[in-house]
Amino acid sequence: MTRTLDIKSLRLRLPDTARPVLDGVDLHIAAGETVALVGESGSGKTLTSRTVLRLLPKGAETEGEVDVAGENVLAMTPQQLHALRTGRVAMIFQDPRAAINPLRRVGDFLTEGVRLTGTLSEQDATRRAGELLEAVGLSGAVLRHYPGQMSGGMLQRVMIAAALMGDPVLLLADEPTTALDVTSQAEVVALIGELKERFGTGLLFVTHDLGLAAAISDRVYVMYAGRIVETGPAEALFADPRHPYTRALLDASPRLIEPGRRLAAIDGQPPDLRQELTGCPFAPRCRFATGLCTTQAPQPQAAPGAPGHLAACHHSDRLAEGAADA
Ligand SMILES: Nc1ncnc2c1ncn2[C@@H]1O[C@H](COP(=O)(O)OP(=O)(O)OP(=O)(O)O)[C@@H](O)[C@H]1O
Ligand SMILES: [Mg+2]
Repeated sequence: MTRTLDIKSLRLRLPDTARPVLDGVDLHIAAGETVALVGESGSGKTLTSRTVLRLLPKGAETEGEVDVAGENVLAMTPQQLHALRTGRVAMIFQDPRAAINPLRRVGDFLTEGVRLTGTLSEQDATRRAGELLEAVGLSGAVLRHYPGQMSGGMLQRVMIAAALMGDPVLLLADEPTTALDVTSQAEVVALIGELKERFGTGLLFVTHDLGLAAAISDRVYVMYAGRIVETGPAEALFADPRHPYTRALLDASPRLIEPGRRLAAIDGQPPDLRQELTGCPFAPRCRFATGLCTTQAPQPQAAPGAPGHLAACHHSDRLAEGAADA
């Protein structure tokens, strides 16, 4: 099976920190698959998605591999990177207004990438831009509009059309709906779902909204303090979480908890980057933690009978028992 994205043992260090901000991340996306990456603020979701395009903060040092369609992004030359960013991988950002030049018409914005790389003539680029605008539910007339004339929801549709211009195999969407009102949010999520079916694009969907992750994705990765603490098929992971952090996120998620269960905030704070970590990073906040958790980092282990459902927790079994009497 070809993997559109294959991140292997990725480690990312930033200047003036005591530990890697991403610490041994393994994450893969099959062709056409939708994968959600969830976790609290600061867990490393954005850095993970930006690493795929090597859009990293100054002074960042990486180890490991980030393969897109079999090629390691971390070893690419500037030319190869440029081709990657304007072709096989496209990114949709949180705030469309911050990612688009307000002084240029939508048409110019949509066509500049393919015109720069010379993949399409100006005429073909404009025709494709018009088609994609219609695919995202806008009219071709939008080509002549300026960003200031459009709502946030419309602009995010333009960003999605722009992302599809280069025929990407992979879309990276980093909280693409958080800056939008609720109606536009739902529309943009539905649209992304439709488009990945129609264009067969793999999708990495970054969100801290577990409800959204459950609704949209085939598989989920849960990140904590720069590590993947649990991964599995969306259904299994939400029905039978194997990591206390995932359980806590579910309990704190308004749309997913069963009626009657109280909404719980997660006590405590994630560890600071100036702090070195021994053992499990979640141990200080975990009600299952034992001495073992503070001394030995748990490795990802498969749930019984579920090879694709892994959790890095010494006490996954107790979690399953605990769910019954919680
Ligand atoms: N340019 C940067 N320079 C220094 N530290 C950074 C930089 N970007 C991110 N960090 C730090 O790296 C950690 C992970 O950041 P990241 O933006 O990936 O988190 P996130 O999971 O996307 O959070 P959020 O949900 O708030 O978007 C945080 O502690 C953050 O402060
Ligand atoms: Mg982020």
